[in-house]
Amino acid sequence: MKLELRSPIDERAGISVPDEVEKLSTPFNGTLGSKEGDEYQVKNNIIDLLGKEPEFTSIAQSTNHWKLTAAMYEDIWRKRSLSLLSGEDFPIEKEHELLIDWTEPKEGGWYLDLGCSTALYGRALKAAQKKSHIVALDFSSQMLEEARLKAEADETDMYFLRADGRELPFFSNTFDGIVMGGTLNELTEPLKVLYEAKRVLKKEGIFFIMHLIRSDVWYGRLLQESAALGGIKFWSVNESNKLFDQAGFKVEEQLVKGIVCFTKLRPA
Ligand SMILES: C[S@@+](CC[C@H](N)C(=O)[O-])C[C@H]1O[C@@H](n2cnc3c(N)ncnc32)[C@H](O)[C@@H]1O
Repeated sequence: MKLELRSPIDERAGISVPDEVEKLSTPFNGTLGSKEGDEYQVKNNIIDLLGKEPEFTSIAQSTNHWKLTAAMYEDIWRKRSLSLLSGEDFPIEKEHELLIDWTEPKEGGWYLDLGCSTALYGRALKAAQKKSHIVALDFSSQMLEEARLKAEADETDMYFLRADGRELPFFSNTFDGIVMGGTLNELTEPLKVLYEAKRVLKKEGIFFIMHLIRSDVWYGRLLQESAALGGIKFWSVNESNKLFDQAGFKVEEQLVKGIVCFTKLRPA
């Protein structure tokens, strides 16, 4: 099956994506468009549906668009972050094990890494199921460029898409699974993104989320209050579950380690 995007200007119009865009060993450059005449650039395999830079409403959002953050994010922070945040030894391999166990990527399945940054989850899914298709989506060009470098180095083919999670450029019921690591806390309009995720996920699909919850110790709360000034939100587990429920999901599994929460959702 081919990847078909939904045109940002007309929700009935499709944009068909050539298979070569997924093959990272050969740079793909060109334009894609729908029959409505709208055109989008593909630069070095990264499909750009946004063109312009997004408007930032928080500091956390804007730092994701710095080249330095993108280059250092995965190796300096991400791979150690869960051990620091959960208060126990939580290597990235353990997180990947949980991701694969709960998501169960299947042959020929389509998976969306939503707010992918360097597409750590997307690469892990593809490593576990070589015959799946991964779409890694972020609105930061800098993160996507870094993600593309890492995927090519790992010989992992996938699609890279620059788009906004609040208006996902896919038709309804496209994905067998959606994965979202750490992004929920950074979203300016989380409910909008969750609604969109529900729309593009198949009825029997799985939504795997890793998110941070509100600390119950005073020094943790103090740190979170300063992070909140930068635009990062923290909910309790109950509040997070209310948000998921509001967007039309039911919680199937949940695991809390310190302030780190893993949630497996299904459409309700
Ligand atoms: C915490 S990072 C994600 C980390 C990554 N998922 C991981 O597991 O390592 C959050 C990412 O979400 C992206 N992001 C935030 N809001 C977004 C939106 N509305 N649409 C698309 N991407 C968004 C940011 O650019 C950033 O790269």
